[in-house]
Amino acid sequence: MTTPTDPTPTDPNPTQALLARDARHASGLWSPDVAFVRGEGAWLWDADGKRYLDAMAGIAVASVGHANERLADAIATQARRLIVCPQNLANDVRTEFVEALFRHLPAPLERVFLANSGAEANEAALKWAIAKTGRRRIVAAKRGFAGRTLGALAMTWEAKYREPFEPLPIPVDWVRYDDVAELEAAVTDETAMIWLEPVQGEGGVHPASAAYLRRARELADAHGALLGFDEIQCGVGRTGRFLASEHAGVVPDLVVLAKGLAGGVPIGALVMTDAVARAMPAGGHGTTFGGNPLAAAAGLAVLQELDARGLIAHATAMGARFRAGIEALGSERVREVRGLGLMLGIELKEKAAPIIAALRDQGLLTINAGATVIRFVPPLVITEAQVDEAVAIFGRVLRG
Ligand SMILES: Cc1ncc(COP(=O)(O)O)c(C=O)c1O
Repeated sequence: MTTPTDPTPTDPNPTQALLARDARHASGLWSPDVAFVRGEGAWLWDADGKRYLDAMAGIAVASVGHANERLADAIATQARRLIVCPQNLANDVRTEFVEALFRHLPAPLERVFLANSGAEANEAALKWAIAKTGRRRIVAAKRGFAGRTLGALAMTWEAKYREPFEPLPIPVDWVRYDDVAELEAAVTDETAMIWLEPVQGEGGVHPASAAYLRRARELADAHGALLGFDEIQCGVGRTGRFLASEHAGVVPDLVVLAKGLAGGVPIGALVMTDAVARAMPAGGHGTTFGGNPLAAAAGLAVLQELDARGLIAHATAMGARFRAGIEALGSERVREVRGLGLMLGIELKEKAAPIIAALRDQGLLTINAGATVIRFVPPLVITEAQVDEAVAIFGRVLRG
């Protein structure tokens, strides 16, 4: 079957032809040098027909794998049934999805605002935090990443993302991640919300200690502030629990999910307690596309797939297998392997970019997390044999 993105079959160099066409109208933010046209589970194929093992998953997005049958069927069925139904009107599939979502979430989280991306849901979290507390100051962690829209950008640490757009609309007090003393000093009666990734993703794959997250909960309560977790990257089963914060037994007032939640269909979800949700004045927030039945059908299919195939436990097992495999390589070039479940970072004693390029040449797709860390965030359906293949490729490249 020919699709509009397939290169013309007669083209002698399909990848180069596609890249040239792509470059003609793209924003200029990126300069891709590979073009993917098909996937299956944790495999991807480029326009020349070369196969890759995908340990990037669109940065932790393709949770149930590429071309997942349940997900594809759910999207196709819903597309033929009803795509448009905004959240001011109820919809059967959205309700089913939301009920399924709350079966995976701890009390007292019981309300959700559905959006279309991580950053958009984080913007909503900021507005709800201001509405609930009447305060504006946020305590956020150095190396944290919350997205590129202006409010989310204010909570993003990396100067090169933030500085060209300052002043940003929200005052942020920065603390060293996983440092209890700095958190204790920073949270005051003017703090609206403590905002943390339970496992930092872009910042280098750093899990917070349970003690730190517990202290954050206590400090928020003591100062009348909210505790908000950004689980856009680490949530939805990737770390071996539905929420990464479950490892610490800490329940926030707000938590944001996105990336893997609908397996690649755009979605964001701001999950809240009832008390937080009720603080928003009538008409105080909204969205055209958020909660549309297509994304809801996809989200429902993802949750069903996670449960039916035991993918959350599988993430724990496959993560442990990969970590043990990399550690067994005993490479002098590796400083540390860290993370939880299938959200792993391999910190090198050298720059990651040349190693990532060599891995890709050998058919393994990964992504960096800072200058020296290689992120391993494959689809949760990755098999034992695929994990072993990834380790073997790492072995060849690190020995090379
Ligand atoms: C932890 C975290 N928060 C927020 C975002 C922004 O999400 P989006 O790209 O969907 O706006 C990301 C994306 O990488 C993320 O990893």
